[in-house]
Amino acid sequence: MPKRRDVLKFGLLAGAAAALPVERLTSAFARPAVAATAPAITLFDTALVVPPVLKPTLTIAGTDYYDITMRVAKQEIVPGLKTPIWGYNGVFPGPTIRTRRNRPIVIRQRNKLPVEAAVHLHGGNVPSSSDGLPGQEIAPGKDRFYLYPNRQQATTLWYHDHVHHHESFNTTQGLTGLYLITDPAEDKLGLPSGKYDVPLVIQDRSFNADGSFRLPDPNLGEFAGEVAVINGRPSPFFAVEQRRYRFRLLNGSSADCLHELTLGSGDTFHVIGTDGGLLAAPVPVQKLPLAPSERAEVIVDFSKYPVGSQLVLNSSVFGTPMQLIRFDVTKAKSQQTPLPPKLVPIQRLKESHTKVHRDFQLNLDLGSGEMVINGKSFDPDRIDIRPKLGSTEVWTIFNGETPDLPIPHVFHTHLVRFQILDRDGRPPAPFESGWKDSVTVMPGERVRIILRFADFPGRFLYHCHLLGHADAGMMATMFVTP
Ligand code: C2O
Ligand code: CU
Ligand code: CU
Repeated sequence: MPKRRDVLKFGLLAGAAAALPVERLTSAFARPAVAATAPAITLFDTALVVPPVLKPTLTIAGTDYYDITMRVAKQEIVPGLKTPIWGYNGVFPGPTIRTRRNRPIVIRQRNKLPVEAAVHLHGGNVPSSSDGLPGQEIAPGKDRFYLYPNRQQATTLWYHDHVHHHESFNTTQGLTGLYLITDPAEDKLGLPSGKYDVPLVIQDRSFNADGSFRLPDPNLGEFAGEVAVINGRPSPFFAVEQRRYRFRLLNGSSADCLHELTLGSGDTFHVIGTDGGLLAAPVPVQKLPLAPSERAEVIVDFSKYPVGSQLVLNSSVFGTPMQLIRFDVTKAKSQQTPLPPKLVPIQRLKESHTKVHRDFQLNLDLGSGEMVINGKSFDPDRIDIRPKLGSTEVWTIFNGETPDLPIPHVFHTHLVRFQILDRDGRPPAPFESGWKDSVTVMPGERVRIILRFADFPGRFLYHCHLLGHADAGMMATMFVTP
């Protein structure tokens, strides 16, 4: 059962939101408030930092062992101020794990935080015992070993905290990191690599005058932080050469920060990958939605911009403009990598082969103030569904919010990735037609997905990835039966 104070906390939000006229609510989405005490932040004042890649502590018989310590630290995020953070190895974002398909790794996570922690590898095809489930929390001072078999294609994953009722708070304190899997199929494509393969972790934050994180207060109509923090720096700049770059975008926001990305010039860029791996072919876009927990890999070609030019990656969050990062073209044409016309084949899951269909309705229960799936808030002791190992299922996800309270949801499945069949009966956009593990479902919208339960039996979660919603109960348990 949810703890009383959490329900109360969320009840307040529900009450406050219910009392707001629609315009107020949408304008609240549209304009995160800037507290009078917030430190002034100059855009493009600091250089982009790429999170360090972690080296294994040791390697035995083809398995890499890593050590990570979760601890309290201080980090300069806003220039001149020190922000207290909770970080994997004391940094925000945490160190990047870079590994190969079919190379198992073990990570020993030590918890030196003052609170319980649980590590979840988002998008990871992992055994239940390594999923970071309720009951698997690491007490302060203790540690836990996580086994990740990496039996999945090249992709951009991430890890973050998953202690129920606290996932939003804990990840906002900094507990997020990238996890990249590479494989031979990807190697062959000759995509931009090394310093031309750059992860961009996009997170929303608000700050107090002393630099400490300030949580958006939904009771004040704040649904997201007003500062775009990229790899732990507020709207940084990044010096690029006149060539193609691969950017691995992760929307690691804790709050309801649904981005819609564009290049300042309005130019086209190419999406080459989604949550679960590369697409079949690059998809040209001018606008790219990226909801919390979603990843998109994109190729941006800077070769047509003269040296000295600057290009901003912009976003719109429910209509509010945000400037995420400025690319400064500082170096003449270096060696160019071609954009491959084809990437990796995607095996389409076939609806005609499925016998099991399930329906999920996601909504805020105004009576209890809880966020529910099919009318129920999360109970770690309840098994909600029992899919069969090896079977394929079709799920219909319905956002049951009303126009009075237009709350988006982002549906996420642990363990399995899926393909989107349709949105309100229409085929998905080409840029979301690959492998996914999170999908935005707007108020009143119905999204059908198809998933195959492979590899691991046992207990796993599915939930809304607006972490405040998961905290408030929008989460459920599946037990994959062998
Ligand atoms: Cu990033 Cu349970 O998820
Ligand atoms: Cu997950
Ligand atoms: Cu939600």
